[in-house]
Amino acid sequence: MMAGVSIDRFSVDGAAFATLTIDNAAKLNALSTPLMEAFIAAVQSLGDDSTLRAAIVTGAGRAFVGGADIDEMAALGPETARAFITNVHRCCAAVRDLSIPVLARINGYALGAGLELAAACDLRAAADHAVLGMPEVRLGIPSVVEAALLPSLVGWGRAREMLLTGATFSAEDALQWGLVEKIAPLAELDDAIRPWLQALAACEPGAVRAQKTLIRRWEQLPMAGAIAAGIDAFEASWRTPAPAAAMAAHLAARRSSKS
Ligand code: COA
Repeated sequence: MMAGVSIDRFSVDGAAFATLTIDNAAKLNALSTPLMEAFIAAVQSLGDDSTLRAAIVTGAGRAFVGGADIDEMAALGPETARAFITNVHRCCAAVRDLSIPVLARINGYALGAGLELAAACDLRAAADHAVLGMPEVRLGIPSVVEAALLPSLVGWGRAREMLLTGATFSAEDALQWGLVEKIAPLAELDDAIRPWLQALAACEPGAVRAQKTLIRRWEQLPMAGAIAAGIDAFEASWRTPAPAAAMAAHLAARRSSKS
């Protein structure tokens, strides 16, 4: 098939989910400008679906994303470089701005922009053979845009190590460092992800969306502002029927379990 991004919808426990597959398998899903534009459009299209509970991002073939497209980058100049890297940022921003949780299903190589995309997701599960890394410094460029998310995930020491050396590392290392939450053999990766989907299906959808938005604000605010934003979010949740309904259901279930 032509390089592109496919969307597959499925349900778990009656709740709707979508998988976005980045597909340019012959090039390890390297992100070219057209592929990035397709990805941004696909992510944003999910935002129109109020029934969706979460999205999964994965790659076709043996890679998650093998990085930004080196063939395209090799022909960049200063002006086109700015436009190119802005698109990498827009891919990550689309994921972070989506109101539902986004899960990275790291089925293989996650390098450079691919690892940034994974870092932009809310949760990450990796195949145990996956190879991860930020090799940009080996290509004459610094790691930029959403590489800035890495220190908060792995700490400044590990972030400096991966960014300054460009050395790749294993899924096992990524798990130990807190860069991914789970690893599993590729054949069991979907089973490893399923409990997250079941948990999300059991949650109140509006509360999960409110939580993602609040976490995003926490990242941007100093502590006092983050706490104040939480008070606003709590009040806002009470302007919807969800808390009263969910708590009444919880209390009714407890009463019936005791009787
Ligand atoms: N940009 C453009 N093409 C890429 C690519 C990228 N980031 N990553 C992989 N490809 C292409 C390869 O050039 C190759 O194409 P070809 O068959 O036309 O030569 C194809 O994908 C398959 O990759 P290949 O190198 O044959 O697979 P491998 O298993 O031997 O090696 C990697 C895998 C990831 C080690 C190797 O492809 C690589 O080093 N890629 C560059 C990764 C990188 O530096 N990414 C960060 C960019 S900032």
